[in-house]
Amino acid sequence: MKENIMIIGASGQIGSELTLRLRDMYGAGHVFATDLKEPAPDILESGPFELLDVMDDKRLIHFAIRHKITQIYHLAAVLSGNAEKLPMQAWHINMNSLLNVLDLAREVEDIRKVFWPSSIAVFGPTTPKNNTPQLTIMEPNTVYGISKLAGERWIEYFYNRYGVDTRSIRYPGLISYKTEPGGGTTDYAVEIFYQAIKHGRYECFLDGDTTLPMLFMTDAIDATVKLMESDASSLSLHTGYNIGGLSFNPEELAAEIRKYIPGFTITYKTDFRQDIAATWPASIDDSVARRDWGYQPEYDLARLTRVMMEKIKEKLNK
Ligand code: NAD
Ligand code: SER
Repeated sequence: MKENIMIIGASGQIGSELTLRLRDMYGAGHVFATDLKEPAPDILESGPFELLDVMDDKRLIHFAIRHKITQIYHLAAVLSGNAEKLPMQAWHINMNSLLNVLDLAREVEDIRKVFWPSSIAVFGPTTPKNNTPQLTIMEPNTVYGISKLAGERWIEYFYNRYGVDTRSIRYPGLISYKTEPGGGTTDYAVEIFYQAIKHGRYECFLDGDTTLPMLFMTDAIDATVKLMESDASSLSLHTGYNIGGLSFNPEELAAEIRKYIPGFTITYKTDFRQDIAATWPASIDDSVARRDWGYQPEYDLARLTRVMMEKIKEKLNK
């Protein structure tokens, strides 16, 4: 059966790269990008795009039926930093958009798989911080983390109760050069490159020794596609899979950037995002993802920094 894939939130940090990868794999005409806002030109020019609000359940169902959708990647959400500014609104959007998508998948027979990203934000201050296990204490104390944990429970419920093939990854902080991140706590690790190249200095909103799990976008996209392509029989989980990659703090990232810009300086002025980061893991045990579907990240800090420096310089020089 030919797949027709719908991406919700295609204009964002992940969607702007995942859409292109899926179009390469399935054919441009089979990957339908949607978002509230216009995407980058390469998404608009390479295949179908429609402005669509995931909260509009009636338009959502018409869209899915009209395009004979078989898989959905639901990427729209309010991220951790922005969610703390408007908690009720963030809860409403994060939860009700997911429930709209799950209910759609339950009702429309053609839709066979749903991907919905979870996050390291499902963990909280009582979770073991180092090598955080797949199954552990989860008491998040941010609205974003609470919505991700509740979301994980809902996707498992729909799998067990209605047979919707739901799949999910607990992404760490994602680092990329194409589209800037959308209001998260790990955004510093992208901002720092732009400020280093433009001004040779960066004022960081996290403390220098705040170690967090991070992943380069290419590894995140590879992991997502690998999970979605895996045979259902190999998957032991229909909640979020832990995936790690690398772990570093702002001091360590600054030291790596100094290999390219020797005079680069970093100063620290923490804000509310430091309190969020302090509750998240420093490193992740991803052995279940490695066992079930062969998760294998490739980028280390040196390689990630080299690619970010090259690509952001190119982008700023254009
Ligand atoms: P982003 O903010 O860059 O992109 C989200 C996109 O969703 C935006 O383009 C936005 O316009 C769109 N959107 C928002 N509300 C919408 C609505 N009502 N209808 C349709 N579209 C809407 O986010 P991202 O970084 O690409 O994250 C995608 C998903 O991955 C989210 O669920 C996020 O929680 C999760 N995640 C991201 C990271 C990360 O580091 N980027 C880490 C962990 C989890
Ligand atoms: N990068 C995301 C955030 O900081 C983690 O889910 O919100």
